[in-house]
Amino acid sequence: MSHDLFEAARDAMAFAHAPYSKFPVGAAIRAEDGKVYTGANIENLSFPQGWCAEPTAISAMIMGGAKKIVEIAVIAEKLALCPPCGGCRQKISEFASKGTKIYLCDETGVKKTMTMDELLPFSFETEL
Ligand code: THU
Repeated sequence: MSHDLFEAARDAMAFAHAPYSKFPVGAAIRAEDGKVYTGANIENLSFPQGWCAEPTAISAMIMGGAKKIVEIAVIAEKLALCPPCGGCRQKISEFASKGTKIYLCDETGVKKTMTMDELLPFSFETEL
């Protein structure tokens, strides 16, 4: 992965709206169009209404006209490695392939690289 995806995720984290958890998260997707789409977690006073950084980035990608996650970087300010939560794994997989790379970062760079299949093994699949 080039360093720019990590930097994009780290920069996106600065936009987090996380006054309740105080746990900012950033995500950056490189899509099949070569562009980078970013997101941060956006919380709400009605706590269940908030959402994670990954779906913010996915939304940006979809509204940018792209459909495929080539690689994605995730970073949290207060955790050396921030594995995407269960719901985010399913959301990422909707637009990924089994070999799509997921980079777990800290403030210095990529600390762990995983594939989609490693992050969400035995995932839900149908013939639909
Ligand atoms: N969070 C993310 O943004 N992504 C994840 O994969 C894990 C959790 C956010 C949700 C909430 O705003 C904060 O981290 C604390 O759980």
